Amino acid sequence: MKKGIFITFEGGEACGKSTQIKLFKEYVQSRKDKDNFIFVREPGGSELGEKIRDLLLNYEKDCPVPKAELLLFLASRAQLYEKVIKPALENGKIVVADRYYDSTIAYQGFARKIMTAKEILKLHSMILGKFKVDLTFYLKIDPKNSFMRKGQNAQLDRMEKEDINFHQEVFNGYNYMSKKEKNRFKVIDATKSIDKIHQIIIKEFEKLLKKMRF
Ligand code: TMP
Repeated sequence: MKKGIFITFEGGEACGKSTQIKLFKEYVQSRKDKDNFIFVREPGGSELGEKIRDLLLNYEKDCPVPKAELLLFLASRAQLYEKVIKPALENGKIVVADRYYDSTIAYQGFARKIMTAKEILKLHSMILGKFKVDLTFYLKIDPKNSFMRKGQNAQLDRMEKEDINFHQEVFNGYNYMSKKEKNRFKVIDATKSIDKIHQIIIKEFEKLLKKMRF
């Protein structure tokens, strides 16, 4: 089996993740091997997953109870993994995901307190099997600061509407994971300039590529 590379971007609300993924995509477009990359987002990334995303974030008529929320995130991931990520990795592609299981640990584990991080990881490997993420860019910013970045009139989804205590727990969840899996995590101070963060990401990515491909 050829060896693909799996990279994730993680962080709390308004950490600058979308901007950095956009810049990373532009960087990929300038590479000779650009066709070897696949970008996905979570929840979503597959046709069914995008419908689940809408239910999870915007369907306010009958909001999922916490356990249903957890299972819907996992359902979206199972679909994305089987249909897109697994075949791509088996074909030696570089998969770049906007969020993955660290989000579940931070949001459903730490913030919603549905299960402990350990239990979520166990459930995760029961559903998705054992696989590993090679590198995670964690854009770290205290929610007290990131909340200030949000526009007053921004349209907020269900998670973004949660209070500061919820987002503080999300922050704790990411910090826990980044300490638990130090080798996988590249922790980046998200208060740095957009360009500086982008340069850090490129440097780290190219380092990983050298390590894994040569
Ligand atoms: P975003 O991708 O635009 O940041 O929005 C996705 C939202 O879904 C974000 O608030 C984090 C949340 N989320 C979870 O709560 N659990 C998960 O497992 C994932 C992937 C996302």
